[in-house]
Amino acid sequence: MKIRNPRTFQVKSFGCQMNVYDGERMTELLEAEGLAAAADGEEADLVVLNTCHIREKAAEKVYSEIGRIVGRDAPPMIAVAGCVAQAEGAEISRRAPGVDIVVGPQAYHNLPALIRRAKAGERAVDTDMPAASKFGALPARRRLAPSAFLTVQEGCDKFCTYCVVPYTRGAEVSRPWAAIVDEAKALADAGAREITLLGQNVNAWSGEDENGRTQGLGGLIRALDALPGLARIRYTTSHPNDMAEDLIRAHAEVPKLMPYLHLPVQSGSDRILKAMNRSHTTDSYLRIIERVRAVRTDIAVSGDFIVGFPGETEADFEATLRIVEAVNYAQAFSFKYSPRPGTPAADMAEQVGAEIMDERLQRLQALLREKQLAFNQASVGRRTEVLLERAGRKPGQLVGKSPWLQSVHLETSTAIGEIVDVEILSAGPNSLAGAPLMRTAA
Ligand code: SAH
Ligand code: SF4
Ligand code: F3S
Repeated sequence: MKIRNPRTFQVKSFGCQMNVYDGERMTELLEAEGLAAAADGEEADLVVLNTCHIREKAAEKVYSEIGRIVGRDAPPMIAVAGCVAQAEGAEISRRAPGVDIVVGPQAYHNLPALIRRAKAGERAVDTDMPAASKFGALPARRRLAPSAFLTVQEGCDKFCTYCVVPYTRGAEVSRPWAAIVDEAKALADAGAREITLLGQNVNAWSGEDENGRTQGLGGLIRALDALPGLARIRYTTSHPNDMAEDLIRAHAEVPKLMPYLHLPVQSGSDRILKAMNRSHTTDSYLRIIERVRAVRTDIAVSGDFIVGFPGETEADFEATLRIVEAVNYAQAFSFKYSPRPGTPAADMAEQVGAEIMDERLQRLQALLREKQLAFNQASVGRRTEVLLERAGRKPGQLVGKSPWLQSVHLETSTAIGEIVDVEILSAGPNSLAGAPLMRTAA
């Protein structure tokens, strides 16, 4: 018998950090409604699939997941949330009749009402993008982890020709200054030592401070720097066109701002960047990196890449390898181009064949791995601060992050949430191993 009156729930997030943040806020909302998070391994009465539409593989995952869940002896109430919900709407419950609720990323504050409708046996769909933000209607933060996400900006007006985000998340909107500062305070009070400010174009954030002065992300970061309890600030994802001088200067001037910049370039070929509607060139991109490195020499730069965009030739692809050499990325994400319904690139002639894409992705990833390993190896023998975030696999082992977002494994009796001085002993492509240092009394 299908469960109609849920008491326990599970939220499963499939997407980017903003999707994970939404998942956390839905969790808090459902708990405030009196539902309990299902224990690990327990089958929940309500399953919220918090989906991602960015590439075909991500989007199709939701249907295999639904297939698995509806096969249970007592199928749960199923809610599809996130960007697939926004993109496909009511189509989802037609394709997957076991789905009870479809709720978009700007409407999930309405989950309690949608659940009530589903209890009454109705199919409940809400993919509105209301003018009033959902944030005001959500319960206060209570998350306790040492590193927390905080969405400050949503949506995108850039319309890169391959990308669904402007359609699934809507236009660029900045949350107000006071709402962000209040949420950051609440997170710090609840135990967060590090906050990562999130936005699809986080550096497009703008707002008015408490004195009515217009501020950009750099100004917001300076205000958060003053919050006691908070030790580290990060932000992601940035667009090259919104890399304002004040934000660059903040990297030199704000002690809590970590030396890390995620600045996707996508391709090293100007011809392809133009076809992607990226509105920057390889040269303008490299000049930004130069300016940032001039004020913060040790900054770790990371990026995103797409291989096999329509019309990409071997020469275009080699230009991408050259920009990787030029920047020396500390980390990167790389993807095969995936044609997305409704985007201009999906209709372009000259789609690149699957085999060529596979081959290019392998070559690119081999080079990126080499760069990442070299970056990590340069840390060996250095002393650095590590924020302890979680238990490791071995007893007595903890895992934390260096200022450059490297995972560091170490044995220590210091508590999670503390920042410790560590000597880096060895490095692999994905993590470092270190030993804690005694702090000498000053
Ligand atoms: N707003 C951010 C992130 C967008 S999504 C930015 O502009 O950088 C994260 C990454 O997914 C993108 O940077 C891009 O590399 C990749 N991506 C987006 N659409 C894609 C598609 N259709 N196929 C393959 N990768 C894609
Ligand atoms: Fe997508 Fe481009 Fe907007 Fe990033 S900037 S979210 S890649 S449209
Ligand atoms: Fe995916 Fe939506 Fe994020 S499409 S990448 S979950 S904004």
